[in-house]
Amino acid sequence: KEHKGHISVILVGATGDLAKKYLWQGLFHLYLNEADRGHSFIFYGGALSPPEKGESIMFDVLKSLSCPVDVTPDRCALLKDQFLRLSRYRQLKVAENYTALNQDIQNTMSEEGLHEAGRLFYLSVPPFTYTDIARNINATCRPLPGAWLRVVLEKPFGHDYASAQQLASDLQMFFKEEEIYRIDHYLGKQTVAQILPFRRQNRRHLDPIWNRDYVERVEIVLKETVDAKARTSFYEEYGVIRDVIQNHLTEILTSLSMELPLNYSKSYDVLKAKLEVMNSLLSLDHRSAVVGQYQNYLTQVREELEKKSDFFTNTQTFAGVLVQIDNTRWEGVPFILTSGKALDERTAYVRVLFKDNSFCLQKEVNRETGKTSCKRKQIIFHIGHGDLGFPAILVSRGLFKPKFSSSQWQEATELTSLHLFGQPLTDYYVYRPVQEMDAYSLLISNIFYGKKETFVTTKNLLSSWKFWTPLLEILDRESPRVYLGGTENDQLLDFVIESGGLQFAAVEPLEIMGME
Ligand code: BG6
Repeated sequence: KEHKGHISVILVGATGDLAKKYLWQGLFHLYLNEADRGHSFIFYGGALSPPEKGESIMFDVLKSLSCPVDVTPDRCALLKDQFLRLSRYRQLKVAENYTALNQDIQNTMSEEGLHEAGRLFYLSVPPFTYTDIARNINATCRPLPGAWLRVVLEKPFGHDYASAQQLASDLQMFFKEEEIYRIDHYLGKQTVAQILPFRRQNRRHLDPIWNRDYVERVEIVLKETVDAKARTSFYEEYGVIRDVIQNHLTEILTSLSMELPLNYSKSYDVLKAKLEVMNSLLSLDHRSAVVGQYQNYLTQVREELEKKSDFFTNTQTFAGVLVQIDNTRWEGVPFILTSGKALDERTAYVRVLFKDNSFCLQKEVNRETGKTSCKRKQIIFHIGHGDLGFPAILVSRGLFKPKFSSSQWQEATELTSLHLFGQPLTDYYVYRPVQEMDAYSLLISNIFYGKKETFVTTKNLLSSWKFWTPLLEILDRESPRVYLGGTENDQLLDFVIESGGLQFAAVEPLEIMGME
């Protein structure tokens, strides 16, 4: 078998929560997929803990890794055993530790006569440590000439435009742009990852209707039932827009609205098209957003951060923002980005709602008024949870029957009793992944294959911050206008519609306790 070279994977923050929950599992999936394809691997877990303690935490995690259902138990056991033997813990605290790690990697390769293909550093650590770690990697732990270096970073990537720029320029002192992989885990959610392939594959049908003449509005929604409990020190600094809207929902917005590049296989062209639409977003002002704070938030902050009883916070735990795109395709179409904690349901979806009269194949007559109307046609990218409980792409029957280039997606016909947005599922063509895969496994595989289009480049990141920062500055000065927490939603809906011309369909539950 041809030997394609040796790859060292170094997970920094190997004993942290994200590593325990997703990253080791993602790395194991990588190994499962690639073990027979000619590369050799070694996996280092690095953290601050001294060797014995770190090793014991890390190996406990590794022992509980699992295989996808299509891997036979025998093969799973064999590969898991190999994976454990290829994994080692290293304390990575000071510069000398990185020198020792480099020595270790080189010794392993020379003992076994391997040539180096690449080094992948995954930094699952707080961003304030990035610059030091970057300096150490660059100074002492770069791969040998000819091999690639990929450094993966987790958010937050700054707090506003200025801090994001500072962090980006610090990283640029040590790494080239092509070496930096910023993770947005929503880009690894199966449905989100399928937006561009779906648009491409169904271009013949979508081309004429994916524009202002046919699309009434686009809703991009991430609702959570969990609150900020135990995370209020983080949440106080960030709030919902910085936490999920500036990144996850904005990535979705640009994937939906960007022009499809002629050459899809080039990461650069995809990223450039995304950047172009990002740069065409109309500036936001105080009327573009409705924000809120769930009822219990203030109490939680006072308790967790040991604040006095007169302490007040205007951190937003809920926001609905009306975004508009200043180009000929989308002029005037509302893109409504909504997210919040402590809401009534956990769901995430995109809903592209077409105009009433565009596709009036089946007229419906209202018995009381005698007026005719059409069933709204829509395309839904159901990201997860919610009424369906699984990722899916739905297209109203009568619009078109979608095609999927990937055999990973199949038509789901067995779900006839469910409803979505007031319509029975039988009104839609429903497609779902053959096998559900977590976002990190998908992204780790993309890092390995250098698919940069599913990561956030410096330019795209800064463009997003440039767009969001002015609104954040306005909101930082204002107190939340709506408090959430009850069960009535009409008041908010009215309020939202009046205040920003927004037309929400998705925000509940709430009770307006105090408005400016
Ligand atoms: C994270 C945010 O990026 O995304 C969290 O920091 C949020 O606050 C989470 O809960 C939502 O992601 P998911 O995958 O659980 O929908």
